[in-house]
Amino acid sequence: MSKIYKPEIFYSDDEDFAAMAAGILFEHFEKATNPLVSFPTGSTPQDTYKELVARYADRRDVWDNMRYLCLDDYAGLPENDERLFKNWLGRQLLDPLKIKNRIVFNSAASDTEAEATRMQDYLDSNGSVDVMILGIGSNGHLAFNEPGSDFDSPTRLVELAQDTIESNARYWGGDISRVPHTGYTLGLGDIMKAKKIFLLVTGEGKADILDKAINGDVTESVPASILQNHPNVTIIADKSALFKFKGPKHG
Ligand code: GLP
Repeated sequence: MSKIYKPEIFYSDDEDFAAMAAGILFEHFEKATNPLVSFPTGSTPQDTYKELVARYADRRDVWDNMRYLCLDDYAGLPENDERLFKNWLGRQLLDPLKIKNRIVFNSAASDTEAEATRMQDYLDSNGSVDVMILGIGSNGHLAFNEPGSDFDSPTRLVELAQDTIESNARYWGGDISRVPHTGYTLGLGDIMKAKKIFLLVTGEGKADILDKAINGDVTESVPASILQNHPNVTIIADKSALFKFKGPKHG
């Protein structure tokens, strides 16, 4: 049986979340040398990214040495499609911070298996992710590792869960027809090899799943519960996301 670890937890009043999260993340980036970093999309980190840009854009020593690795993305869209997570993150974070070194999925690749293998090969030959920043889906997914994903799953093309398609529609004006049904994702196996993991969680709507993931059974039906087996996880949350959280909140 795998060892169970308790994550470090930092939390703040809801309105202070972004400033707190940006400060904690930046402090970690500052200490890293040429780090390989994955950033999530989604609504949770939006204000945190704004804070990173507003407060630290002039720290060229940090951003020029960073390598961005795409965590997940939609499949089957043309390269310049605004919905692609790499383009979304480009607009909000990577372009303003001038992070040039980007290792991303080619969404338009016709051989999807070869595309997933190309990314896996990059990871296998360049070492694991140094700083993995994650959000959590309301169904417990991490990146696009949906419930039922193997804990040792590799980088691959996946079918998105109906929950995820419905929840992603809010990013695109509530229009569910704009949400692709397949995506690429780093696997849970890749996520677990990261040297450091930060999980960002906000809002009452995530309170149940956060408690289940961290204090419930470690089970493939809740992908984020695998984080209990990682020795170096920091959760950065607002008070609303922690209101059902059982157990100590140290940090
Ligand atoms: C999306 C993304 C994840 C993200 C999660 C939470 O589907 N694939 O990488 O972390 O769901 O999103 P949100 O922050 O909008 O709740």
